[in-house]
Amino acid sequence: MTRKIAILGATGSIGRSTLDLIEAAPDRFEIVALTAASNVEQLAEDAERTGARLAVVADEALLPQLRERLSGTNIHAAAGPAALAEAAAGEADLVMAAIVGCAGLAPVMAAVQAGKTVALANKEALVTAGALMLDAATRHGATLLPVDSEHNAIFQCLAGQDAHRVARLILTASGGPFRCSTAEEMANVTPAEAVAHPNWSMGAKISVDSATMMNKGLELIEAHYLFGLPGERINIVVHPQSIVHSLVEFADGSMLAQLGPSDMRVPIAHVLAWPERMATHVERLDLLAAARLDFEAPDELRFPALRLARQALDAARSAPIVLNAANEVAVAAFLAGAIHFPDIAATVERALDTMDEPAPNSIEEVIALDLQARGVADRMIAELAA
Ligand SMILES: NC(=O)c1ccc[n+]([C@@H]2O[C@H](COP(=O)([O-])OP(=O)(O)OC[C@H]3O[C@@H](n4cnc5c(N)ncnc54)[C@H](OP(=O)(O)O)[C@@H]3O)[C@@H](O)[C@H]2O)c1
Repeated sequence: MTRKIAILGATGSIGRSTLDLIEAAPDRFEIVALTAASNVEQLAEDAERTGARLAVVADEALLPQLRERLSGTNIHAAAGPAALAEAAAGEADLVMAAIVGCAGLAPVMAAVQAGKTVALANKEALVTAGALMLDAATRHGATLLPVDSEHNAIFQCLAGQDAHRVARLILTASGGPFRCSTAEEMANVTPAEAVAHPNWSMGAKISVDSATMMNKGLELIEAHYLFGLPGERINIVVHPQSIVHSLVEFADGSMLAQLGPSDMRVPIAHVLAWPERMATHVERLDLLAAARLDFEAPDELRFPALRLARQALDAARSAPIVLNAANEVAVAAFLAGAIHFPDIAATVERALDTMDEPAPNSIEEVIALDLQARGVADRMIAELAA
């Protein structure tokens, strides 16, 4: 039996790595649906090549272009939020959730409510709606499998273990391209420098998040929801080689770690085949060539995003949504050249100081709070740019 796969965000970095693995194992997998935001050409090409039955573009204005491109094929072209939800909740057995940002939240929730196995790369969905998503997963019998390399590492370390005997989780962080830079040096870095990650090849947004270390902050919140531990039992350790992807310490003092190459196809393959394992053509980790593993404490003075994420997790209420929304807006502004690198964390901090609302009770309330926080961050950025 082949496993039917839908890829939300098929044209992105995680989406393409997923396609690469699936196309190398046609006896195991079948693509049923692919989605993109606006990259019609890539989406259509992938849909045709893989034999997908549904191709969805988020931007409704691009539907005529997608229809035209797919005319003469059996692939159904669709667009907009309802079509994204249809791709998520349709015939797939496993949904790869690889849309970037809070835009992925509604489709992920549609997959969860349809009781799917969801391979979750879209960390922003869990950061903004973690409690609601876990509750929906329980009610609808959905399974969440972590794709983020750190959370996937922890998931692997916990397999077969007594979850009640976990003392703490240790998330590793590469430290990003500015690990050794001073605050003065970081003040004037360019978007090109910020997206040039030393170890991983990723989309622009997560690359900037790695440079500010907000990525690790979002992962802290993600780990809290996925593994049910309070923030104080989730530590962050900088590990520049990105070989140890994360660790679990148990009550008896044992630590288990998962190691592997810095290639997202490894955790993606793990969730695609789970609970089995599949062969991949990924280049193997050469321990002798790697030679050493270094660990150091993160510097929350140079990387305030870490402190802000911890603060948002502790504050709860609307704080994780505000943290995420302000960060998305500020990262986009930085990539567009409108603000400086340190303004990203400064904008997030000001937004957290400005907005404090009760915790949302529904996805609609999450989306409304997200929009409100974006408005707050937009105003702050306009002031900075003036
Ligand atoms: N890349 C990694 O190595 C990595 C590792 C761990 C976790 N993650 C997480 O995985 C997610 C995806 O990251 P990525 O690096 O693959 O991002 P990416 O390369 O920027 O790709 C994003 C994907 O989402 C689509 N998309 C963007 N905005 C959308 C919207 N408003 N509505 C619907 N679709 C939209 C894009 O379509 P278009 O191409 O048409 O714009 C693209 O297919 C993120 O949440 C990230 O944190 C990534």
